[in-house]
Amino acid sequence: MNQDELKKQVGDEAVKYIQDGMIVGLGTGSTVSCLIDSLGEKIRQKHLHITCVTTSKNTSKHAKEQNIKLIPLDDVDHIDLTIDGADEISADFQGIKGGGGSLLWEKIVANISDNYIWIVDESKMSNKIGEHFKLPVEVVPFGSKQLFRRFTKLGYKPTWRMDSKGEHRFHTDSDNYIIDLHMGAIEHPHHLADSLIRTVGVIEQGLFLDRVNAVIVGHDSGPEYMQARP
Ligand code: 5RP
Repeated sequence: MNQDELKKQVGDEAVKYIQDGMIVGLGTGSTVSCLIDSLGEKIRQKHLHITCVTTSKNTSKHAKEQNIKLIPLDDVDHIDLTIDGADEISADFQGIKGGGGSLLWEKIVANISDNYIWIVDESKMSNKIGEHFKLPVEVVPFGSKQLFRRFTKLGYKPTWRMDSKGEHRFHTDSDNYIIDLHMGAIEHPHHLADSLIRTVGVIEQGLFLDRVNAVIVGHDSGPEYMQARP
C-alpha cells in the first residue's frame, strides 16, 4: 500500500470510534481529510447526530463540504473524542505536530478532549522525536527576527515556514508565523517544551507531550491500535 492508501485505511478505521451523539474534535492534515470523507459518509448512511469542532480553517471548509455539523469551540463544555494526525511519534508516544501549521488550535482542542487519538501511516513512527521531523514553533510576527536569531545562537537551526509558493512567510490561522527548528533527535522534550513556551514571543510549540490516549497506525497488514495512556 502507498502512503495515501495507508492514510485512508486509518481514516476509515478511526471513524469506528465515533458514536452517535458525540461531540468530536477534527484535527488537520491529509490523514484527517480521509477521516472527514469517511465520517461524512457514515453520518449520511446511518443518519447520525454528530457535532464537530475543528482545528483549522481548512478542516472547517472540508467538513462543511461533507455537510458535517460544526459548532464553535467556545460553545461546547467538553469534547468526547478528538482525532488528529501527527508528524512524528516516538516509541513512548510523544509527538511532534504542526507540519500543517495548525499546532496552536490543535493543542487547544486536544486540551479539552476526553479522549485523544492520533491517526498516522507507519512512516510517522520513530524511536525519538526530532529524528525525522522539524519542530514547528508558532511566534508573534512582531520582533520575530529577534527570536530567529536567538534560536540560531542556541544551535536550533531555525528556518522560516514559507507559503506553498515559497514566496512569503506562512501565516497561521491566528496570523502568526512559524519558525521550524531542525535540531535532530530531542533528548529532553519536556525541558525543551518548557523553555520554548517561557520564551516571550513564542505562542505555542509543536511538542505534544503526555497527551495522546491512543494511536492508530496504518500498515500493509491492516490498522494497528496502540494504547498510549488511559
Ligand atoms: C497540522 C498537523 C497535522 O496533523 C500533521 O502535519 C499531519 O499531517 P498529515 O496527515 O498531512 O501528514 O499537525 O498542523
